[in-house]
Amino acid sequence: SVKVGTLVLFGATGDLAHRMLFPSLYNLHMDGLLADTLTIVGSGRSQMDCAAFQAQVRAALTEHLPGDRVEAPVVETFLQRIDYCAVDAGKGTGYDDLAALLGPRMDQPVGVYLSTPPSMFGPIAQGLAAAGIACAECRIAMEKPIGHDLASSREVNEQVGSAFAEDHIFRIDHYLGKETVQNLLALRFANMLFEPLWNARAIDHVQITVAETVGLEGRVSYYDGVGALKDMVQNHMLQLLAIIAMEPPANVGSTAVRDEKVKLLRSLRKMTAEDVKAHSVKGQYTAGAVNGEAVAGYADELGRPSNTETFVALKAFIDNWRWKGVPFYLRTGKRMPRRQSEVLIQFKPVPHNIFARVGAPKLDANVMIINLQPEENIRVKVMAKQPGLDREGVKLREVNLDVSLSHSFAGERRRIAYERLLLDFIEGEQTLFVRRDEVEAQWQWIDSIRDAWATVDMVPQSYTAGSWGPSSAIALIERDGASWHD
Ligand code: BG6
Repeated sequence: SVKVGTLVLFGATGDLAHRMLFPSLYNLHMDGLLADTLTIVGSGRSQMDCAAFQAQVRAALTEHLPGDRVEAPVVETFLQRIDYCAVDAGKGTGYDDLAALLGPRMDQPVGVYLSTPPSMFGPIAQGLAAAGIACAECRIAMEKPIGHDLASSREVNEQVGSAFAEDHIFRIDHYLGKETVQNLLALRFANMLFEPLWNARAIDHVQITVAETVGLEGRVSYYDGVGALKDMVQNHMLQLLAIIAMEPPANVGSTAVRDEKVKLLRSLRKMTAEDVKAHSVKGQYTAGAVNGEAVAGYADELGRPSNTETFVALKAFIDNWRWKGVPFYLRTGKRMPRRQSEVLIQFKPVPHNIFARVGAPKLDANVMIINLQPEENIRVKVMAKQPGLDREGVKLREVNLDVSLSHSFAGERRRIAYERLLLDFIEGEQTLFVRRDEVEAQWQWIDSIRDAWATVDMVPQSYTAGSWGPSSAIALIERDGASWHD
């Protein structure tokens, strides 16, 4: 694929651009990974000149990058790449100015990155096409969410698809840019050790937890009415699930990997009204304390009562040969006791315990815990013999096989997920972007839950901020004789 010559950033004055996109582009620039000729055009609704926009970017870099990365001369050469053009996507004005500014630069592909409200994705793609900025090699990247259900996501995909070909559309799920998420592929498919056991014969169940300590973070207008199921499960958690559970792809190319993910996503068992009563829990936090700090409840932050869930726990099944009967417990929430994303693989007990004797404790089955963030490590709990002469029988105890990735690769800077994603976008590499059929399969499953919730009138149960969610979430897994790993 040809590299883009100009990157146009819609939503360039927004929060994501300031916090993530410009700092990531700056890091790539500093490390010499951007072509000297690459221009970055910021675009937003406000009219301002290039100098005023550059000043905004300079301030954003100072605020959001670690102090030792900000080097004044590097910042200045970075800013020299940056131009600005006001486009009002809502009104449909400014595209001609953008086309004029791009002018001769259109000889090289333009990459348009949309960090705007999702309702703008379709209109912007069509505005670009009408102004001639959707040339054959031009490409477009979009943040989540793509729609709010299957029907609306199809609509967005159609609208954007009428201006850009699918292999030029890059749907972002920033979890795929995380080093630790990509490491799941390495763990599964660069080792012989795990894959032969990665199935219903050896695995009892899987837990995926994405816990956050933050609350609404000033995103009231976006979050309320959306909730945890659509904000986190529909995208990040299902992508994690797909990578953990998919069949081995033939290679790491974009077609092979995404073919396997979509097959897996389509195998998720849809939920009925009966299922959601037993297999799902919605929660909403009330006032409490997180990390020793008092925080308000969701409804207080919002200023009114709401039925939006800030926590969800699900018991999911994958209907295929590999995972027959293996529950996948998913859980995500805001205002949890700590920030922690992890995958837990609970293996089955050994088929016959040769150490069994009267009064001896049962053997603990093996567990593998993959910590994704903030720490990055893999721990396997195995049974070992306690030292001693064993006059009363062998004593066994669980010990850890521990791999700390941050230690093994100490000294290597952990990159922001967006650095990888932006570079792949510029270079036209699609493996870490979500294909249309994946997004639609994700929505299909989410819609089944949402519809079933509506049928049974499911309302969120309250949980105190700083706890692990409503007690029914604990019951959801304990009924099966297992428990969440906190
Ligand atoms: C975003 C969600 O997609 O992911 C946020 O909209 C959430 O609600 C965020 O806080 C979590 O991302 P990370 O990288 O901090 O785990």
